[in-house]
Amino acid sequence: MCGIVGCILAEKSASKKAFESLLRLKYRGYDSAGMAGIEDGKLVVKKDAGKLEEINQRINFLEITSNIVIGHTRWATHGAPTRENAHPHIDCNGEVAVVHNGVIENFQELKDELIESGHKFRSRTDTEVVPHLVEEGFKKGYDLFNSVLYAVKRIKGSYALAIISTREPDKIICVCNESPLIIGIGVDGMYCASDIPAILPYTNKIISLKNGEIAVLRHDSYIIRRILDGSPVTRSPQIIDWSPDVAMKQGYPHFMLKEIHEQPQSLRNGLRLQEKYLDLISLFMDRGKKIFIVAAGTSYHAGVAASYMFSKLAKVHVHPVVASEFIENYGDAIDIDTVVLAVSQSGETYDTLKAVDYARMRAATVIGITNTLGSTLTRVSRAYILQQAGPEIGVAATKTFTSQLIVLAQIALRLSKMRGKLSQDEIDEFKSKLHEIPDIVDEVIKSSESRVKEIVNKYRDENLFIFIGRGISTATALEGRLKLLEISYIPSIAYPAGESKHGPIAIIEEGVPVIVIAPNDSTRKDIIGNIMEMKARGARIISICEAGDREIAELSDDIIEIPRGVHELLTPIPYVIPLQLFAYYMAVEKGFNPDEPRNLAKSVTVP
Ligand code: AGP
Repeated sequence: MCGIVGCILAEKSASKKAFESLLRLKYRGYDSAGMAGIEDGKLVVKKDAGKLEEINQRINFLEITSNIVIGHTRWATHGAPTRENAHPHIDCNGEVAVVHNGVIENFQELKDELIESGHKFRSRTDTEVVPHLVEEGFKKGYDLFNSVLYAVKRIKGSYALAIISTREPDKIICVCNESPLIIGIGVDGMYCASDIPAILPYTNKIISLKNGEIAVLRHDSYIIRRILDGSPVTRSPQIIDWSPDVAMKQGYPHFMLKEIHEQPQSLRNGLRLQEKYLDLISLFMDRGKKIFIVAAGTSYHAGVAASYMFSKLAKVHVHPVVASEFIENYGDAIDIDTVVLAVSQSGETYDTLKAVDYARMRAATVIGITNTLGSTLTRVSRAYILQQAGPEIGVAATKTFTSQLIVLAQIALRLSKMRGKLSQDEIDEFKSKLHEIPDIVDEVIKSSESRVKEIVNKYRDENLFIFIGRGISTATALEGRLKLLEISYIPSIAYPAGESKHGPIAIIEEGVPVIVIAPNDSTRKDIIGNIMEMKARGARIISICEAGDREIAELSDDIIEIPRGVHELLTPIPYVIPLQLFAYYMAVEKGFNPDEPRNLAKSVTVP
């Protein structure tokens, strides 16, 4: 997730407003930044890697003297955080500048085609295909608006774009598709930005562009059209009355809730992985005689879930290990035939990196799954894949957990294909189930949020929660427990339900709340048995189950229903959503700040 801004004013004060707007978007990305304006008919582009303020110290964005400026603060998804990969990106002739937030899925084929026809590329980003496509539009004799239309009709994926050109220096063209983009109607000019905080000090009259819309901003007017047929769109501006702090969270009270709600989009972006990296990673894994997943905390829970995916899809044993125990427990078994899949959203976790360093020293192959391009993990991995979830500000991992799961599921599927373990129909079936997940998660968030609040209200005074699941739902139970524990500080226990009789059931007494992850999968009959044994000892049962499962509903004191038809290996993604919301609302109910839980840091970079 990156931040884009643009402003076109009557006066030549655009660079100051664009820079201040970028400062308010820093939380959307902070590994590189840039701005472009038009001075006396020429493009002036200033950009570099690093933090926004540091870059400004070095290259002084405010030197751009123009009434039209676009800007960008980056969270790298394609291409390391370097000056060349920073936005804005320009065409061959320096007539077009583009800033972009999103993921262009088909950029490689477009880039090959454009290079073939003589275009010179300067970066490794997906974004850079856009100015060259606009340049192609110019070559076909189109004006700027139609050249941008030509370009966006060629690209696939998610994009919020702001585009300027020396050929028509009186307008900014904005395009929106599955990445947020708003227009601000000011008294001194027109603004565009990835979200409201950026431009709220200049105007509170906002129009949110919808997917498939293109807008032309002039300093005193704007028009919006549909990309599909060019038909005009009329939409009255929304008057925003948020405080700047609330605006930073797009109206949500906390980053954690905002990030829970972002999951449909982060999952869509997680499905836009580079085929070549999926193939490379599967190739490395295919060679492994021993395969470990090494991670900490929530990322470890993603690894536990992934071990079921690899086992059932690729018929491969992948052993999830808590990073801090890896060397002690398995160090002597590591050799050149070992593959270590290191999962870390920050890419900076001390225990995970220590395990990785040890594995590399023993000649193992290390593969990284991370959310942070340019992190240490990307530098020490033989190959890595980015989760594309965008920066996660809340200390408790939410969207990065589900994006890890959807990435790991795709790797397991790719490995299964490589090993010929699934038929074409089974592969197609799993793929279509994967692509249903973002919409299912969207539905779960909408349908369960108010139900979760009721449950929080009913159990708010409890001082112990038990989480149980079977099979892959064990991972979901572990993660639900960690969420509740780390932000509401309520002692909680999670374990595989089959373990109950081996000890944990001793803790059950009248009224103890037991949260049961009970999808309609191969473990359902056994989990019903676990529910019965808990109830027999007075437990209160809160079940997360498939919609319409009457049997489990009748056995439960409270239920949260998940839409039918979720593939059994993908259930952790939708089934964890109510648990994230439960932890969040319980913390708020208890008066805690979910974004900054006590004693915790977002990334544990020390032993
Ligand atoms: C999860 O909510 C916590 N923030 C923590 O357990 C986290 O998952 C763990 O520290 C691993 O972080 P990483 O994914 O950045 O390696």
